[in-house]
Formats: sequence, C-alpha cells, structure tokens
Amino acid sequence: MAPLASTLSCTISRLNLFAELSLNRHSIRIYRTLSSKLRPNKSLYHHRSFKSSFSSSTCKSTTSNCSKTLGSNPLFNDNLVVLGIETSCDDTAAAVVRSNGEILSQVVSSQADLLAKYGGVAPKMAEEAHSQVIDQVVQDALDKANLTETDLSAVAVTIGPGLSLCLRVGVQKARKIAAIHQLPIVGVHHMEAHALVARLCEKDLQFPFLALLISGGHNLLVLARDLGDYLQLGTTIDDAIGEAYDKSAKWLGLDLRKSGGAAIEELAGRGDPQSVKFSVPMKQHKDCNFSYAGLKTQLRLAIESKNIDGGIPFSSASTEDQGLRADIAASFQRVAVLHLEERCERAIQWALEIEPSIKHLVVSGGVASNQYVRAQLQEVVGRNSLQLVCPPPTLCTDNGVMIAWTGIENFRMGRFDPPPPVIEPEGCQLDLRPRWPLGEEYGRGRSVARSMRTARIHPSLTSLTQHQRQ
Ligand code: KG4
Ligand code: ZN
Repeated sequence: MAPLASTLSCTISRLNLFAELSLNRHSIRIYRTLSSKLRPNKSLYHHRSFKSSFSSSTCKSTTSNCSKTLGSNPLFNDNLVVLGIETSCDDTAAAVVRSNGEILSQVVSSQADLLAKYGGVAPKMAEEAHSQVIDQVVQDALDKANLTETDLSAVAVTIGPGLSLCLRVGVQKARKIAAIHQLPIVGVHHMEAHALVARLCEKDLQFPFLALLISGGHNLLVLARDLGDYLQLGTTIDDAIGEAYDKSAKWLGLDLRKSGGAAIEELAGRGDPQSVKFSVPMKQHKDCNFSYAGLKTQLRLAIESKNIDGGIPFSSASTEDQGLRADIAASFQRVAVLHLEERCERAIQWALEIEPSIKHLVVSGGVASNQYVRAQLQEVVGRNSLQLVCPPPTLCTDNGVMIAWTGIENFRMGRFDPPPPVIEPEGCQLDLRPRWPLGEEYGRGRSVARSMRTARIHPSLTSLTQHQRQ
C-alpha cells in the first residue's frame, strides 16, 4: 500500500489521499469566501483534487452558474492572485494575474537563438534551456508584480499537451513553490488556456463559443460549451499551420530569431500573393479538418523550381532572388489562410446547428498574432454575423498569463490539487500529459485518416470532466 500511495501522491491529479488541506492563511481566507459563495452545501476543505472535483455532483450546476454569468457575477471580482507557469515547448513563461483580470506581470524567455541554430525545437536542448532560466523567469514575474509567493492564492502550470521533458521543468518548479508555501496547484491544458485567455481580454465572452486554435503543434476548431467541456469539430490530419510557416521560413532562408511565422508574415507583405499557384488543401473533404503537409510539399517544389537556395540567407540573396522568395511567401500565406477560412465557414454552420446561441469566434494560438490571418477571419465572421475575439499578439503566442487565467477559472470551480509534499517521495512520477486531446470528436468531423494515425495517450480533458460529473 505504501509504495502505491507515495506514487499517487506525487502526481498532480491525485486521488483523495489527503485527509486535510493545509493551506496558508491567505488561501484559507479565499477558500472560505469562495466556498460560502460557490458551494453553500459543500466545503472546499474536502480535498477537491483536479480529478475528484470533476466527480462532484454539484460541479455541473456550479459550472454553469459561474461561467454563464461571468460578466455580471460578483465572483468575477474575487480576490485571487495566481502565478502561471508555461514550459510546454520552447518558451519559458511566467505571469501573475489577479482574478479581476488585472495582469500584474508577464515574463517570457524565448529560445529563439536555439531555434535559429537548429531550425526547430530539439527536446533535450529545450529542456536544458528551460532549466537554466525557469528560476529567474518566475522570480522576475513575482518581482514585477511586486509580490512574494506568500501573496499568491494558487500556482497554475501547464501539464500538457507538449514535450514531456519540457513540461517536467515547469511542473517541478510549480510543485516546489506550492509545497514550500503550501499553495494549491492547478494543472492546466495548454490549448484550453489559449482559448480561455480570450475571456480575460473580452469580458463579455461567455460560453458557448467557437474557437479556432492555431499554433506550432495544433490546428483545432472546437465548440467551447463550458469550462472543461469542448467538442472538437476539426483538427489537423498531419501538420499544424504554424509548423508550415516555420518550415517555409527555414526553406526560404529567413532569420528565425523572432519566429518563422512572423518572418513569413513580414516577407509576404512584399510579395505578390497570386504569383505562385498553390492548391488549397482538402477541398474534396466537406468537413472541418485541416492538412498542411501537402502545402509544405508544394512549397518545397516551388522553391526548387525557382532555383532558390535556402542555404543562402535572405539578406545575402540577390534582389531578384529576394523578390521570388517574397512572392512564394505571399502565395503560401494566401493559401494557408484560405484553408483556415474555408474550414471556419463550415465550422460556424456546424456550431450554430449544435448551439444556435453562439455569438463569437475566438482565434488564438501563436499564428493568431498574424495580422493577415486576423483580417481574413474578420471577413468570415462578418459574413456570418458573429464577432471575432482575438487576444493581443503577446497573449496569442505562448505566455504565462493564459496559464494563470485558466488556473483562476478552474480554481473558482474547485478544480485544483492540494499542496504537494515538501519532500517528494523517491521514484515520484509526475502527471505529465504530452498527448492530451482537449475535447471529444464531433461525429461529423471524424477523420478516418487521422483516427488511424492518432494514438491517444490520455483521455481528453472533456471526457474527464463528463465522466466525473456522472
Ligand atoms: O502558440 P505558440 O506560441 O506555441 C505553440 O503552442 O506551438 O505558437 C507558435 C507558432 C509557431 O509556429 C510560430 O511560427 C507561429 O506560432 N507564429 C506565427 C506568427 N507568430 C508566431 N505564425 C504566423 N504569423 C505570425 N506573426
Ligand atoms: Zn501554444
């Protein structure tokens, strides 16, 4: 029994192993306020672990009460202060956010030089880079917020999806802080955070809403029905759009230090978007899934056919060669985004059939910081009488604010774990979820091609929520 207990006790999603929460005074004060307002019949002192909180029979009604009336709910002004930590890929980020929506600090240390050197993310190097800066990044976030750990109500940290070596660095840091300062800890889904940060920016954004989440590793169209409840209308059957941008930038010899996507966006502005005839992916598939692998191949062939040597940096290329590269970048961007537009048009129709009350399309994730993407999607929502919600670019690319905010939203619902033990048991296995779907697949959106390729390592966030509610 003892070894089992010690293994379980050091995962983030623990079972109800703790007889009592020991919390700092500040947190206890907040819990009291929350528990009296949120759950008149149920005290939060009953260890509401991430997992066990989903099983609460009161959870459902509490969720809809809180989230559906967020704009006018007095609890929106409750006085929580949460530290968010993000290390799922190549950015080490931390931020402190107050539950009234005030961003007290935001710090991001990017691995741009490593990216430029290796042309992509190398997990082992990324892990080392995170380890080198994590303490400083978190300290800077606290200093900029003019706070210390004892002022915090909770620590939120990304537990997936992402590179497990990288996730581990953030989770270990979060657990250390939570253990020393006896703070509750919230395990956050990275893609849920990309979606929910829009609710921090747009206070009127209520569930349900449609979200297009576009990053380096994901291309998702989800119907966000409620906190922790997402219906996946479409996803990529191969690469995400951000990956296609990054490869294009590499093959066109661009400076990758700011990000491949940003470099292509800039160059595309100088080219003719109609000059190279790329075909739009998946035209024959009348669903909401995406594919960017074929467009990458078309792009590579176009580069070869124009005798462009991507090994020669853009800045050293001749004026004529630079012009050709700009034309390719502009043509690539037009078609890559056209693919998004077509899928969003269909997803809006599907979403309105399922939830006629939706009013917003949220577009978030690193690629959503692209102005051309925003402008084109603005046209799509305009044609469908919806409103576009795009967080500012600094909140679209990976950041700690979105993690802290998602931590706040989940914390309010009682979805958190008690502080970890100060000394983690030996052989402790952290609950990291490198492959963690956000929602269940919508029947019409299922892609046979993708299902055969996708091995699910972890049940989706939504299935956990639903399972535990029953
Ligand atoms: O969300 P994010 O910061 O990290 C992941 O979760 O992957 O997204 C990173 C992706 C990269 O592929 C990057 O090239 C892309 O977002 N990106 C952009 C722009 N800025 C970042 N893509 C297109 N245009 C941009 N301006
Ligand atoms: Zn991301």
